Amino acid sequence: MENKRLKILFVCLGNICRSPMAEFIMKHKVEQLGVADRFEIASAGTSDEERGNPVYPPAKEMLKRHGIGSKGKHSRPIVPEDYDNYDLIIGMDASNIRDMYHTFGGDPEWKIKLLLDYTEHPRNIADPWYTGDFQATWDDVNEGCDALLADLGFI
Ligand code: 4NP
Repeated sequence: MENKRLKILFVCLGNICRSPMAEFIMKHKVEQLGVADRFEIASAGTSDEERGNPVYPPAKEMLKRHGIGSKGKHSRPIVPEDYDNYDLIIGMDASNIRDMYHTFGGDPEWKIKLLLDYTEHPRNIADPWYTGDFQATWDDVNEGCDALLADLGFI
């Protein structure tokens, strides 16, 4: 019997910096682990401000520096149907969580998580759109993805 794929949606505000970094870092990690076929991974934003736009160049560059592509990704806003379509919906900061509660009308199935809640030091991931610190974003997202994979029993 084929294993059911775990569907993960990473969510930030604009879907051009943090959540696409999480999407492509996570895709890279599951490929390296040889378990890509167990997952379906995507990202979206709570705002439609950046709808249709590609990954923001400094975020794209940070991924590229680690050998990770992000080709074909364009920002899209979350829609109410995402709640049923995904198993885990993972925000980057507390305002993402609050905005998702609003769009999804709550979280009856406990699917909404904060990425760094999987780590030993739960905290928000600062928005590099405002801080300009894409290295900090990389470090935080990378730590969060490792912690998520450990939580799921893959590392
Ligand atoms: P992100 O960063 O949420 O990490 O993608 C942002 C990108 C764009 C905007 C805000 C945050 N914006 O307001 O356009």
